[in-house]
Amino acid sequence: MKTLTITRPDDMHLHVRNDALLQAVLPYTARQFARAIIMPNLKPPVITVAQALAYREEILSAVPEGCDFTPLMTLYLTAATPINEIKLAAENEHIHAFKLYPAGATTHSDAGVADIKAAYPLFAAMEQYGIPILLHGEVTDPECDIFDREKEFIERYLTGMVNNFPALKIVFEHATTQEAVDFVAAARENIAATITPQHLLYNRNAILAGGIRPHYYCLPVLKREQHRLALMKAAMSGNPKFFLGTDSAPHLTHLKENACGCAGCFSAPVALELYAEAFESANALDKLEAFASHFGADFYGLPRNSGSITLQKQSHTVPQFCGTTDISITPLKANETLAWQVNTSDE
Ligand code: DOR
Ligand code: ZN
Repeated sequence: MKTLTITRPDDMHLHVRNDALLQAVLPYTARQFARAIIMPNLKPPVITVAQALAYREEILSAVPEGCDFTPLMTLYLTAATPINEIKLAAENEHIHAFKLYPAGATTHSDAGVADIKAAYPLFAAMEQYGIPILLHGEVTDPECDIFDREKEFIERYLTGMVNNFPALKIVFEHATTQEAVDFVAAARENIAATITPQHLLYNRNAILAGGIRPHYYCLPVLKREQHRLALMKAAMSGNPKFFLGTDSAPHLTHLKENACGCAGCFSAPVALELYAEAFESANALDKLEAFASHFGADFYGLPRNSGSITLQKQSHTVPQFCGTTDISITPLKANETLAWQVNTSDE
């Protein structure tokens, strides 16, 4: 059987929620990934070091026996974040970044930053203390077409941030457009981007053609084919600025299949398999390991993982539901076939 063995990967953008939902979803990630950058958009958001450390303990309580998994914590940036909290976060070994959500951009972003330019003193402190900022790069201007919000963010804010804070490490999260990958590729070394499996595998037809398919709806929304192709090229280029971040974002099935459905694709149960499918479709499986297991760790200044994981070429059907009897979550590609499967015997 055809197999592919790579260094254990890291998921550099992950939502795991809290309480019962956390307990239901975390094991899927812990089985595949050694570490994950944990998004802080809980309700209420994780805004202090103390809250992040408590959340870290809660995540560790959900790691299955025998799994070796390390959560890499982040703090949610608000207009009121004290400079001293930035210093404390930068000094803490468990905290790896701040996440900036423009207020109103996505799930639980209302406590986010409404005026990005007014937050410049906070960016200056992050630059000074050497802690990265992770961007949800979309404008929230209601007059801006939803398909143009990422491109607008780059023009209105990202360019200024990059120019004004030359030593600030920035991750442009879940890049979805040609403009984003072009910008990141041309920018200096400390500007990187994560790329999700859904943005590599699908264009916007997946949400809208032949009926509305809510499980393909996430933010930033899937774009045209031209953009998907640009993301494929970036992910498979071997350029270390582009690395794996699933943005797996669980929502209960009934809240996705809803008149006002939540944004987020739950990819964690088959995350590596989805990336393998994308890379194989471009004959680039040899580029998967660096994208999934090397470049993210290198960017964050973390050691690369020492273990390995094996994928087998073995067709299987993605389950219709994941979770528990009380918590039903529909995974990405539910009821569909995947060509690769993570081998659980050698983890
Ligand atoms: O689709 C998304 N879901 N995009 C985000 O930025 C947030 C995420 C979530 O937390 O559900
Ligand atoms: Zn996210």
